Amino acid sequence: MLFDKLPQHIAVIMDGNGRWAKEQGVSRVKGHQAGAESAEEIVRECGRLGIKRLTLYAFSRENWKRPRYEINYLMKLLRQYLIRERPKLMKNNIKFAVIGRIEELPAKVQDEITRSIKATEHNTGLTLCLALNYGARTEIADALRKICQNGIDVSAINEETLRKYLYDPEMPDPDLLIRTGGEMRVSNFLLWQISYTEFWVTPKFWPDFSKEDLYEAITEYSRRERRFGGRTQ
Ligand code: IPE
Ligand code: IPE
Ligand code: MG
Repeated sequence: MLFDKLPQHIAVIMDGNGRWAKEQGVSRVKGHQAGAESAEEIVRECGRLGIKRLTLYAFSRENWKRPRYEINYLMKLLRQYLIRERPKLMKNNIKFAVIGRIEELPAKVQDEITRSIKATEHNTGLTLCLALNYGARTEIADALRKICQNGIDVSAINEETLRKYLYDPEMPDPDLLIRTGGEMRVSNFLLWQISYTEFWVTPKFWPDFSKEDLYEAITEYSRRERRFGGRTQ
């Protein structure tokens, strides 16, 4: 597949696992399992296409409101995913990163995150960033707290200062935001970073999202005229 213009950074709100499971007449956990398989395919494809960064919204701070058994299952799935994917990350030259309040995740999950970051730190292909226990408002509040703790002079605070204190200062703004599950909302994802991001929403549930859907999103992206406040051509 060749595209006129490739987004450098794609961010994805992977939503609809529960509704997919209901539609299939299976349990929600099966929906999350199928969602993890979808993620594997999209990571592989983004690497192959030469996308620089893929940020996947996997668990929000608000998701702690869910029943304990579902949260426990998601944490188990996440740990298994990290272990299973590590050799594939190495084979495909993918660098692993995370954003979110990682220190609040179960210790066993944190250990696997640290291992994946360490193992892939010198990889130079796609950066796969998982948003885990992530909330955009918390991210901005956390950044402000760090700015104050560092005693930065009020007059020196500007957009770039704030950006430096976000969870991953290296992260460029996403060019394209894909949202599955049909909802027209950002659900507290990357509020600072998506000021000029192009949105693409599909009613498809995440487990049904395939590489063909990714191609469709990128094709539409390549036709958009990004103006960043400038005038039309
Ligand atoms: C997305 O699927 C996965 C997570 C938020 C962890 P959901 O579990 O939110 O599925 P729906 O939205 O209820 O269908
Ligand atoms: C967004 O999905 C969060 C993730 C994909 C991790 P939710 O299912 O939590 O979003 P809402 O509650 O429908 O906005
Ligand atoms: Mg949902």
